[in-house]
Amino acid sequence: MSRRFPKGFLWGCATAAYQIEGAPAADGKGPSIWDRYAHIPGMMANSDTGDMACDHYHLFREDIALMQQLGMQAYRFSLSWARILPEGTGRINAAGLQFYSDLIDELLAHGIEPMVTLFHWDLPAALDDRGGWLNRDSADWFAEYARVAFGAFDGRVKKWITINEPWVVSDGGYLRGTIAPGHRNRFEAPIASHNLMRAHGAAVKAYRETGRHEIGLAVNIEPKYAASATPEDMAATHRASAYMNEQYLDSALLGRYPPALREIFGPAWPDWPETDFDLIRQPLDFIGINYYTRAVVRHDAADDLLKAAAVRQPGALYTETNWEVFPQGLADTLLWVRQRYGDISLYITENGAAFPDPPTATHGQVHDPHRVDYLHTHLLALHEAIAKGVDVRGYMAWSFMDNLEWSLGYAKRFGLVHVNFETQARTPKDSARFYSQVIASHGECLGESPDTT
Ligand code: BGC
Repeated sequence: MSRRFPKGFLWGCATAAYQIEGAPAADGKGPSIWDRYAHIPGMMANSDTGDMACDHYHLFREDIALMQQLGMQAYRFSLSWARILPEGTGRINAAGLQFYSDLIDELLAHGIEPMVTLFHWDLPAALDDRGGWLNRDSADWFAEYARVAFGAFDGRVKKWITINEPWVVSDGGYLRGTIAPGHRNRFEAPIASHNLMRAHGAAVKAYRETGRHEIGLAVNIEPKYAASATPEDMAATHRASAYMNEQYLDSALLGRYPPALREIFGPAWPDWPETDFDLIRQPLDFIGINYYTRAVVRHDAADDLLKAAAVRQPGALYTETNWEVFPQGLADTLLWVRQRYGDISLYITENGAAFPDPPTATHGQVHDPHRVDYLHTHLLALHEAIAKGVDVRGYMAWSFMDNLEWSLGYAKRFGLVHVNFETQARTPKDSARFYSQVIASHGECLGESPDTT
């Protein structure tokens, strides 16, 4: 079977501002919640912070030249809200806008299409002081910021993403405290989710006033498979999927939440004003799917939220972040999205894996056979879903280069390009070379075994 991808299919890679930029106070940037959180003792592995990260703020021209050498056709990155609006609303920082303007121009000069995420977790600290995502006004704050970005860049930017992974912000930031702002409050999590979705809707609505291109939402979908056919395990699987997957896509695309959320959150689940769903459910041009792994789920009475637990799969390969490598889950996810939500255009906006790569390159090389295999098998699964008729328009590998894996620090390496964090030297790994061949052959080479020698 030919592995060629559809005409116009876009091959690229992805990053996010706080994970790569560094320069946290340069040229008038305001602090974000991550600038604060990373400096609280005990929050970050190895006391790492994003203060330097990949120093992309200063090295973006070199990074873009490397992307071009590798054949990237698109680059998904996020804007730091606090670089553009240091207090989150009101005063615009011209130097912050200029940085992104230069970045976009540089991409276009290298024939690389920008795909811009407005919010990838680094909320301006000044807005956190006003309650952050718990404040209903956050939808207006976000729409104000989005308008500034659309006004400055729409035209040069043709693909916009409002919010990256609202589930992670709510679950990690407000329920479990594993990422900024580090709250642990069951009553806050649904409110944060709901306001993130209202903010998404408000930004899309604002885009329709002036925007001329495409806008969508990026969600992390982790398909849930029942560990057994018992009613208990099936019900636990249903809850886990409602919480992580349907909570966001049902509200954005169907204008409602899955009923299981009331059961899951109990008294912490509010009654939402019905009119909120008119705001949340906006016509979208595409959905961005971030896929990393699956979960096999069983009933677990000891789990206090979902009454569910993930079952480790004997014999399976797990990544450095303890995620099972399960390529078929990508095809299953894409088919599930089409079956549940209809024929909407999709992009894979993230897919990748952390493996224990060497900390330094040897003779200009970094061998990462597991990542080559991960890419290869996931791209085959993606091809399978496309062959079955799912409208997937592009694939953004996570990540262009090794970077700050949030609270897990720099030790978890997801990059196609190796970064030496002492010297900032970049070295394309074997996976980058493999991906270059995939792009050059438009997928054709996926039919052959990758050469990882
Ligand atoms: C996020 C990225 C993160 C990646 C790997 C996604 O949840 O959008 O920022 O680095 O997964 O954990």
